[in-house]
Amino acid sequence: MVKINQLDENLNIEGKRVLLRVDFNVPINNGAITEDSRIEKILPTIKFLINKKAKIIIIAHLGRPKGKIVPELTLKPIAKKLSNYLNQDVVFLNESIGSLVIQNSKKIPNGKIMLLENIRFHKEEELNSVSFAKELSKIGDIYINEAFPCSHRAHASVCEITKHINSFAGKQLLKEVNIIKMLTNNAIKPITCIIGGSKISTKSGVLINLIKKMQSIVIVGAMANTFIKHKGYNIGHSIFEKNQENLIDDIIEESKKNNCNLVLPEDVMVSKNYNSKGDLKSLDQINDDDLILDIGEKTIQNIFKIIDESKTVLWNGPAGYFEVDEFSIGSKKIANKISENTKSKSLVSIAGGGHTVAAINKFEYSDGFTYLSTAGGAFLELLEGKVLPGIKALEIN
Ligand code: 3PG
Repeated sequence: MVKINQLDENLNIEGKRVLLRVDFNVPINNGAITEDSRIEKILPTIKFLINKKAKIIIIAHLGRPKGKIVPELTLKPIAKKLSNYLNQDVVFLNESIGSLVIQNSKKIPNGKIMLLENIRFHKEEELNSVSFAKELSKIGDIYINEAFPCSHRAHASVCEITKHINSFAGKQLLKEVNIIKMLTNNAIKPITCIIGGSKISTKSGVLINLIKKMQSIVIVGAMANTFIKHKGYNIGHSIFEKNQENLIDDIIEESKKNNCNLVLPEDVMVSKNYNSKGDLKSLDQINDDDLILDIGEKTIQNIFKIIDESKTVLWNGPAGYFEVDEFSIGSKKIANKISENTKSKSLVSIAGGGHTVAAINKFEYSDGFTYLSTAGGAFLELLEGKVLPGIKALEIN
């Protein structure tokens, strides 16, 4: 039995610098946070550390700046939000590594908080760089990983750092992992996984393993575009993932072999841009200047039938561009259907991911799910049965 290093609640951390890695990768529009459940989820841990009179230094990332300073991806708005939630000042430092950060970390009064700038502004973070992680570890006396949503990333502030500082798993991280495992390890079949969203670059690889565990996989959102294109249809200028031909062939083949029902959109809502009215089209009617922004009614009805036949539904990634009402219908109807069946037919339902949870909250169906996870990619990888590198790094050998 693998043991994870957990923080003993009685440990005296008064005056100690606690380096807390969290996931504040929340949707931000023009500097305004549009959904903050990931921040809310972590508040009990921060309050616990405040009560323990620790000096709290928070490391987080936002978006994918690819090792460069991208002003729109600053964590500054989060410091303000956090300070409102906690009713105390949160100092924001526009650096995340180096001697200035170390000096400042020592000056934090006990029970107070300092939030560091987006760690992904440094390319060494995603490279899991040893020297970078060593340098980071000097900012704290102990390290806590409360960043379940990015624990599938072998990044320096998630993985390598644990080799250079006394490291612990956060309470919220363990709680989420345990709940997801409990609900999925012995999940009642038929199990359906609905995968959508716009973040596609790492999800196709996940599919190949999920096929072996699911009776149905429904693909919507931007990932469906890659499949629709692969089938030979025009997808206009919709988002899709390049060079996936072989992987898609494998996915189709594996799904047949494993008797997994692979469900793709049969009709879609298209538009010329994100702000115009949508047109319902079958796949063979899509024009060069069309942008696929939601699934169509026939697809929605197919999905309803599958949800009705399922005993467990796992959902990551909205069906369309739900931020605009015109293209939120698919996601809203899926959320409604899952919620209804969870309440009336004891369906076990878990949804995960920043955007999916944001959509469910927007449509006010959050009480209709068995569990809402803060994680998207990490949730899917946990479902695959993978040991997440960030969690592996906290194992006691
Ligand atoms: C997420 O939002 O799922 C996590 O923060 C990980 O983000 P990433 O996919 O950009 O690594």
